[in-house]
Amino acid sequence: MEPRKITEGVFWAGAVDWDRRLFDALIPLPDGTSYNAYIVAGRDKTALLDTVEPSMTAVLLDELKGIDKIDYIVSHHAEQDHSGSIPVLLEKYPDAKVVCSPKGKELLMCHLHLPEFVFITVADSEIIDLGGKTLEVIYTPWVHWPETISTYLKEDGILFSCDLFGSHLAFTGLHIEDEQRVCDASKRYFAEVMMPFRPTIKKHIERLDKYDIKTIAPSHGPIYKDPRCIIASHKEWVSDNVKNRVVIAYATMHGSTELMVEALSAGLWKRGVEVERFNLATADTGRLAMALVDSATIVIGSPTVLGGAHPLVISAAFLVNALRPKLKFAAIIGSQGWAGKMMEQITAHIGNLKAEVLPPVIVKGKPTQADLKEIEALAESIAEKHKSIGILQGQP
Ligand code: FEO
Repeated sequence: MEPRKITEGVFWAGAVDWDRRLFDALIPLPDGTSYNAYIVAGRDKTALLDTVEPSMTAVLLDELKGIDKIDYIVSHHAEQDHSGSIPVLLEKYPDAKVVCSPKGKELLMCHLHLPEFVFITVADSEIIDLGGKTLEVIYTPWVHWPETISTYLKEDGILFSCDLFGSHLAFTGLHIEDEQRVCDASKRYFAEVMMPFRPTIKKHIERLDKYDIKTIAPSHGPIYKDPRCIIASHKEWVSDNVKNRVVIAYATMHGSTELMVEALSAGLWKRGVEVERFNLATADTGRLAMALVDSATIVIGSPTVLGGAHPLVISAAFLVNALRPKLKFAAIIGSQGWAGKMMEQITAHIGNLKAEVLPPVIVKGKPTQADLKEIEALAESIAEKHKSIGILQGQP
């Protein structure tokens, strides 16, 4: 396939992976993904911005078959979905230099065993002059590794943002007109990949406000030819704002925990609080992560199995903890047959959350009417908490 023209001297030359369904053996990809590489051809020099996942190197090579000379391979990010084809590219273009941050050099040498002589390291704000095409380096560490850089093509106002602003979305055109579809995919991507780095991303976006960005060309998913929507969405996601919503993530074995979840959902709904429920036996963890991007509260529900929390609940609690969502409140509910350490185990897995932990409701066996009154009291308590931070109407 030919590289696809974005504007004069700027081309997309990546690979679209329609069939990939899991990233890092963890992240569900219901819509596939793409590995976006770009060619920027100046009067004097030609730069290839990133490469592709190693399994798709042949696709990139096919797109580059008409290009005799590449002077720079700019590696924004050392993760292999963008850097993995560099060794093969260096065989095809032996005079090319790999341009990256010093940390990027360290990681590329570590992960790809590249020799030191192939590198040129660049500082923050440094200019890569291609002749009539000027790339400014913008350090954007922790989106999503510590070495990551973005580049800004001054003449065309294009931000090559690497993972930032990306979406795991396979596509045929370079742009998708349905903004809502892209926004939904990018929210999933933010939730699964970027959420742990929220405070850092907030600072990067504040810095990017100073640039006249006409187009955002990320490393995954379609290009944004009008970047206002995606930037505004990210500003909201990285803010401290939360919605009047409770995420209930639970497992149930014999229905007791589910009865509690039903009662809690009804109690919250009655009080005007939105609920998103995830039965972890069947839930899409990507959807769970998306709900956590802007929900105020999480309630984790578990039965007791072999003296502890259900493994699905422990796995979800571990994930929630690692994603560090901006939750304000948390609670644990569940059931046990006779005894156990279910609550203690879950609590031990959510130490990163800065949420206020509300009193748990743990019952024995099938919940009684008295137990369900405790659930009703939890619903009331959550509603009051939501009022106290101004996301639910009424007096705190
Ligand atoms: Fe798309 Fe962090 O790699």
